[in-house]
Amino acid sequence: MFETLKEQPADKILMLMQAYKEDPRDTKIDLGVGVYKDTSGNTPIMRAIKAAEGKLLETETTKAYTGLAGDPGFSDAMVNLVLGDAVPRDTVAAAATPGGTGAVRQGFDMIRSANPQARVFVSDPTWPNHLSILKHMGIEMVPYRYFDDETRGVAFDAMLEDIGKAKKGDVVLLHGCCHNPTGANLNMSQWKEVVASLQKTGATPMIDIAYQGFGDGLDADAAATRLVASSVPECLIAASCSKNFGIYRERTGLLMAVSQDASARKLNQGTLNYLNRQNFSFPPDHGARLVTMILSDDSLRADWMAELEEMRTLMLSLREQLASELQRLSGSDRFGFIAQHRGMFSRLGTTPEMVEKLRADHGIYMVGDSRLNIAGLNKNTVPILAKAIVDVGI
Ligand code: LMR
Repeated sequence: MFETLKEQPADKILMLMQAYKEDPRDTKIDLGVGVYKDTSGNTPIMRAIKAAEGKLLETETTKAYTGLAGDPGFSDAMVNLVLGDAVPRDTVAAAATPGGTGAVRQGFDMIRSANPQARVFVSDPTWPNHLSILKHMGIEMVPYRYFDDETRGVAFDAMLEDIGKAKKGDVVLLHGCCHNPTGANLNMSQWKEVVASLQKTGATPMIDIAYQGFGDGLDADAAATRLVASSVPECLIAASCSKNFGIYRERTGLLMAVSQDASARKLNQGTLNYLNRQNFSFPPDHGARLVTMILSDDSLRADWMAELEEMRTLMLSLREQLASELQRLSGSDRFGFIAQHRGMFSRLGTTPEMVEKLRADHGIYMVGDSRLNIAGLNKNTVPILAKAIVDVGI
């Protein structure tokens, strides 16, 4: 029977991880997959996570199942982190998921359950796995223009025009902050226009927020999500703890469904529980428990926030160093956008051929669409990258 299966296309980001591993050059630089690295190239376990793990080892008394939606303490802590007091807590249904990808997948499943005809409007470009999951699930996608190849900023008028074509029963997928793959983000007045468009069309927003704390700070990065959630009748929010808690392999995420009242919440919560049960039953708990412990303990929380801020400011300084190095070497300001972008990624806006040349000639790995992971750099590799970019003629 299985001989009928078709070869699946390899995930571009994960393929790159493998190619990097296999490259024997010791000068190689990995700017591919979105994993944070410190100045010595390690992906550290955050201090607060280590401390919480130590505590958990001593105090955990059972590994029995949690609930289908995970530990309610985790939902509370994360709803609070993402939404603050933007909406009443009793309007938010939430379920823990295996990572942010799990939350995205469950969100799409909820959309399909509610309206099998729903179209999902996706930014062009978006995280490739959004497209891959939607395709796998047979959900219709409609790309909306997002990135301006000239300015390397958001093509906002075009975006607004395109999302304006969504209808009630459709979904507009938005990146809450730190747009992946471009690094180009909306400002708050543009977010207000997006909200006005959603209010006009009646389309349901779904927000993917995987990098809270990596852009302008924890609250600033959640501001758009809070604005949207508090301005429309319903929305979905897929949050990830992989990056901001550095617990990638623990698969820790939360899907939230915000509605208008407690009775809609009950229906949403039942659906989230049901979908978890169908797809994987109980969500993983270890990472969620660590996050809950950190967010509900003043001193662990303060230490986590301090370390997250160190990571954020390190990425910002790498952005600035790269932009100024490129300005010096190229004699032009055309790379200034790198310092304006936020989050882990920036899209250089060059061709796949140039990206391949960087890999072949210089051992520099970035995704074929010219997305580079800023956190893969350090102060010694920034000048090497800048020189390579100018040498290949980007
Ligand atoms: C990325 O975009 O590199 C990350 O979100 C990791 C992944 O799963 O693709």
